[in-house]
Amino acid sequence: MSLGRIGWDAFQALSLEDKGPQLQEDGRLFHILFAQQFDRASLDALGRLATRIRFIAKSKAGMTFLQGLLDHRRAMLYFTQPSTRTFLSFCAACEILGMKLGEVRDTSTSSEFKGESHEDSVRTFSSYFDLIIMRSHVGGLAERMAWVLSHSERPVPIVNAGSGRDQHPTQALLDIYTLQRSFEDRGGIDGKTVVFVGDLARGRTVRSLAVLLTRYEGVRQCFVAPPPLRIGDDVLAMLDAAGCEYEVTTEFKPMIPRADAIYMTRVQDEWDQVKGESADIDTSAYAFTAEDLERLPPRAVLMHPLPRRKEIAPEVDGDPRAVYWRQMRNGMWIRCALIAAIFGCAGALGEYGDAEP
Ligand code: CP
Repeated sequence: MSLGRIGWDAFQALSLEDKGPQLQEDGRLFHILFAQQFDRASLDALGRLATRIRFIAKSKAGMTFLQGLLDHRRAMLYFTQPSTRTFLSFCAACEILGMKLGEVRDTSTSSEFKGESHEDSVRTFSSYFDLIIMRSHVGGLAERMAWVLSHSERPVPIVNAGSGRDQHPTQALLDIYTLQRSFEDRGGIDGKTVVFVGDLARGRTVRSLAVLLTRYEGVRQCFVAPPPLRIGDDVLAMLDAAGCEYEVTTEFKPMIPRADAIYMTRVQDEWDQVKGESADIDTSAYAFTAEDLERLPPRAVLMHPLPRRKEIAPEVDGDPRAVYWRQMRNGMWIRCALIAAIFGCAGALGEYGDAEP
C-alpha cells in the first residue's frame, strides 16, 4: 500500500505504527515523518550506511564518487522555523551526495506572504525539486504535505526536519547513531539506561528518541524534569504499550551515577502560551556542571540536541564523555544515509571500493 491510495481520513485513523508502511514506495523509505517508521533492522542498516558514507568521504576519489550519486537530483529546504544544525547538516548531506539545493526560510520573501496556502507552496516546490525537507512550527504539517504530494502528479518525498512539538525524527536518528557508536564496544544500546533531563513536556527530540529506544532490548528510560515540564502521558502510554521500563522523577543529581547516557534539553520557551511564562519555572537543579563529571560513570555519554543555554556548563565540553559536538556531526552522516536510502543508493555505496567498513 502507498500513501497515494488512501484517503486522508482513513490515513488519520491509523496508528503511527500502522502509518509507517504507507510511507514507503517499492518497499523503500520514501516520506520520513515519524520515528515510528523505523524498526531495529532499519536503524541498524541506516547506521551502517552512515558509517560507510563517512568512510568513503575520507578520500578525494571517494568524495567524487559520492557527489556523482545524486547529481541529477535537487533538494528543497523549506524551513519556516529557526534552525542552524538541522538546516546546515541537511545542506551538507545533500552536497556530499551531489544534490543541488533551493531554500525558503522566510515566508515574507515567498508567495505565502501573498496568501498562498501550504499545500500550494509545497506543490510548487515539487514542480522544481525531487526532495522536500521541511521544518515548521505547525504540528502535523509535514504529514499533511506528504499526503497532498502523494495524491499529486509529482509525488516527491517529504522529510520532516521538525514539526511543531510532536516529532523530530531525523534528530532521533542521529541520536541513535551516536548511541550506536558510543556503545559499539559495550554490547550496543541494549540494556542501557538513558536519562532525559529538562523540558520534556515540549521537547520533540525527546518524544522521537523515546520511540526509537523502544526498538532495543531492556533499555530503561528515565525522565527528569520539574513538574511543569514533565514528560507527556502519551509518551508514557507508548512505553507501557511497548512493555518498556521507565521512571519519572524530579530529582536529577541522584540519576547521574546510574546513567549510561544523559540527554540534556533546554527550556523550549518558544512554545510558551503566555510570553515569558517559562521564566517562572526554576530549572537550576536541571543543569549539568563540571562537578557533576565526578558522578558520571567513566563510560557514560552526555548528549544534547543543541542549541543549549545554561543546562550544560561550557567547562564540561572538553571531557571525552561530552559527545554533543560529535552528535551534531553524526547528524550530517545519518542524513546522508537517509537521503541515499530514499533514492535507492545503498547498493551502489555497498559496491564502492573494497575497503571496510
Ligand atoms: N537539534 C536541532 O534541531 O538544532 P537546530 O534547531 O539548530 O536545527
